[in-house]
Amino acid sequence: MRRWSLRAACRMAWVLVVLLGLLAVGVESPSVFGAMLDSLPAGRFLVRQGTQKTIWDRIYTEEQAKRGQEIYVRACGVCHGDDLRGADGPALVGSVFSVRWRDEPVARIFGTRSTMPQDNPGGLGAQAYVDIISFVLKANGSPAGDVELPPDPERLERIFITEKPAR
Ligand code: HEC
Repeated sequence: MRRWSLRAACRMAWVLVVLLGLLAVGVESPSVFGAMLDSLPAGRFLVRQGTQKTIWDRIYTEEQAKRGQEIYVRACGVCHGDDLRGADGPALVGSVFSVRWRDEPVARIFGTRSTMPQDNPGGLGAQAYVDIISFVLKANGSPAGDVELPPDPERLERIFITEKPAR
């Protein structure tokens, strides 16, 4: 019995060493391990320390959000409300939004392009969709900056929707 538990402890130690090694490598090269780490809360936290950004890092421009609002009102407002507070579709602002998307990468919202607008799934181009997302983020308090939110899923994978950091 004692022998067995000693062996089990050794094996556990090895597993830990290997896992820590993988985490360390993952932090060095998030492009390789990012997706894997992303599936673990602790890993996601570690990756975020490296190349990750959040919606509080000025990740879209004012201009872009303005374009996004025009498209939104045409394509989404009828179901989500021109003020984003929801109608047939859920609200895209306030606590409904922040709870639904907490700690998700922006890429996840970008992924709703394949189902939205519900009356024309996938009908909007990638650029139009990131413009809309910029407008949605702005409405949720995220600040504008000098660089546009790119229509690039890989880069959107590294921008996280988090609670507003305390200052
Ligand atoms: C015809 C009505 C309709 C239109 C137009 C529409 N939506 Fe939706 N949307 C819905 C409904 C209903 C839901 C909830 C069911 C679902 O998630 O599919 C929803 C859900 C969503 C969600 C939440 C998905 C989730 O996983 O929580 C997002 C984000 C979204 N819509 C974005 C958009 C955007 C952006 C547009 C415009 C490009 C748009 N919608 C246009 C009806 C609509």
